[in-house]
Amino acid sequence: MRALCWNGVNDLAVETVPDPRLVNPHDVIVAVRLSTTCGSDLHFIDGYLPGMREGDVIGHEFMGEVLEVGGAVERIAVGDRVVVPSFIGCGACWYCGAQRYSACDTTNPNAAVQQPILGFPSGGIYGYTHPFGGYQGSHAEYIRVPFGDVNCFPIPESITDEQALFCSDALPTGLMGADFCDISPGDTVAVWGSGGVGLMAAHTSRLLGAGRVIVIDRVPERLELARRHAGADTIDYTSVDSVPATLREMTGGRGPDACIDAVGMEAHGTGVQHLYDRAKQLLRLETDRATALREAIMSCRKTGVVSVLGVYGVTDKFPMGVLTNKGLTLRTAQQSGQRDVSRMFEFITSGQLDPSYLITHDLPLSDAVAGYDIFKNDKSECVRAVFRP
Ligand SMILES: NC(=O)c1ccc[n+]([C@@H]2O[C@H](COP(=O)([O-])OP(=O)(O)OC[C@H]3O[C@@H](n4cnc5c(N)ncnc54)[C@H](O)[C@@H]3O)[C@@H](O)[C@H]2O)c1
Ligand SMILES: [Zn+2]
Ligand SMILES: [Zn+2]
Repeated sequence: MRALCWNGVNDLAVETVPDPRLVNPHDVIVAVRLSTTCGSDLHFIDGYLPGMREGDVIGHEFMGEVLEVGGAVERIAVGDRVVVPSFIGCGACWYCGAQRYSACDTTNPNAAVQQPILGFPSGGIYGYTHPFGGYQGSHAEYIRVPFGDVNCFPIPESITDEQALFCSDALPTGLMGADFCDISPGDTVAVWGSGGVGLMAAHTSRLLGAGRVIVIDRVPERLELARRHAGADTIDYTSVDSVPATLREMTGGRGPDACIDAVGMEAHGTGVQHLYDRAKQLLRLETDRATALREAIMSCRKTGVVSVLGVYGVTDKFPMGVLTNKGLTLRTAQQSGQRDVSRMFEFITSGQLDPSYLITHDLPLSDAVAGYDIFKNDKSECVRAVFRP
């Protein structure tokens, strides 16, 4: 089959690779119909997240049609149109029982590699480094989905492929970020980053009752999407002296009730701290440029919630004392989309949210290298590029 492979830092190619096959009676093989780019991919494309190997198939946000099922699969049948959350659950361990699928104790075959780094290993995820399981990704004609009954969700007829696609990753991540904020009616939620994840966080914060959502970025086209689709107010951080001061002013001096970081380790910035982080990251002395995270912590009102969706490695100068002295709650996780699929389908079928507006580029898989190039380098043009095998 054809697939998009990672061959080195900033080196992707569409190549012919072996077809996936059933290796376990609980497996399902899905013929991919749509697969999309995610900001998380940039971290290993740019070389900040280690653990990729030459020839790895990338991609983790996808939907498709079931082509083959293993002998032990009961709930899913050949021909089902399904969406698959990006983290893989087993459905039987303690964490899956608690619906924390991304913390699954079973699905990461490379747990021993990751354990010394994290203390306890995470679950597996498709197309996202060997410490995270080494599973082959979804930018391909076919993909093997372990524990098909737990990880494949049949899509109602009234939901299109383009809408269902984002129930795999961007939407459940944004929704988790909004859930973390424990929103009371009328609250103000600030969101750093207006990529697919930030836009979904902003939109679902509104659905959960936020009176006001303020989205911060520097890309005018993305900020326009936040205004139009999520009813957000926006701040272009390149046009203000200080984001925390601007937010304080916009909230009557108190600060937002909750702050969501949907940027992660490759934040841009303007000040001296940004130059320091950039230099250290280039020398691999730290993995992160944590501008957005630091601003979120500084901006949040006392006793508020800081909800971190952005992916980080080792962060320098983490302002722990600010959290304590302001009584902030810090909440973060990798998303567990399985637990929220029915809620997301309900948002879509009731017309409250149509995530398909994230698609700015609809390309054949053969153009996936160009798709990543534009996703990475032209944030004004591209929010999500989708690939059709
Ligand atoms: N926790 C999870 O389960 C999960 C799931 C998916 C993605 N993620 C992470 O979420 C983050 C966002 O993903 P995405 O797909 O939306 O990425 P993206 O690259 O499309 O968007 C990131 C946005 O952040 C903006 N930005 C950069 N620096 C900023 C700053 N200082 N202040 C405000 N905005 C800034 C960029 O201009 C861009 O619009 C990434 O770190 C990704 O790894 C986490
Ligand atoms: Zn992702
Ligand atoms: Zn499990």
